[in-house]
Amino acid sequence: MDLRLEGRSIVVTGASSGIGLAAARVLLEEHASVTTCARDFKRLADAYRGLEGDQAERLLLMRCDVRNREEVQQLIDAAAIRFGALMVSSTTQDKAAWERSWKRPTRSGRMSCT
Ligand SMILES: NC(=O)c1ccc[n+]([C@@H]2O[C@H](COP(=O)([O-])OP(=O)(O)OC[C@H]3O[C@@H](n4cnc5c(N)ncnc54)[C@H](OP(=O)(O)O)[C@@H]3O)[C@@H](O)[C@H]2O)c1
Repeated sequence: MDLRLEGRSIVVTGASSGIGLAAARVLLEEHASVTTCARDFKRLADAYRGLEGDQAERLLLMRCDVRNREEVQQLIDAAAIRFGALMVSSTTQDKAAWERSWKRPTRSGRMSCT
């Protein structure tokens, strides 16, 4: 599979388990740079333990509760600083909270999937 994601910076929320973790792993395999978040940082870090080399270099782990606007802004800023312009994939349950928190545009276009 080649989704042409090499060089893309993508944020995946809710990425310590379930569909978010699965999506982040596929995106890393597809050569994207991936910023992941969850509220429980230890569980998030455990989910990616063992990842090495190029994939580990393209992964950023952040503690973030998507109901908290400031934390979301920090997440987006950290991803943009580390990897550049963003695409966003949100898999967290509270879609309304995510959209409320998602006001300020980033440096480029964005995509939201749930
Ligand atoms: N699994 C599927 O096949 C599937 C298919 C279609 C749709 N969905 C939808 O996708 C969503 C996730 O399902 P799932 O099965 O992947 O659930 P899950 O395994 O429970 O994963 C939820 C993830 O979201 C994180 N999370 C929860 N609340 C959060 C918050 N406020 N801020 C940041 N991260 C948060 C959790 O980590 P923390 O608790 O540490 O924050 C965890 O990483 C649900 O809305 C589900 O209906 C799932």
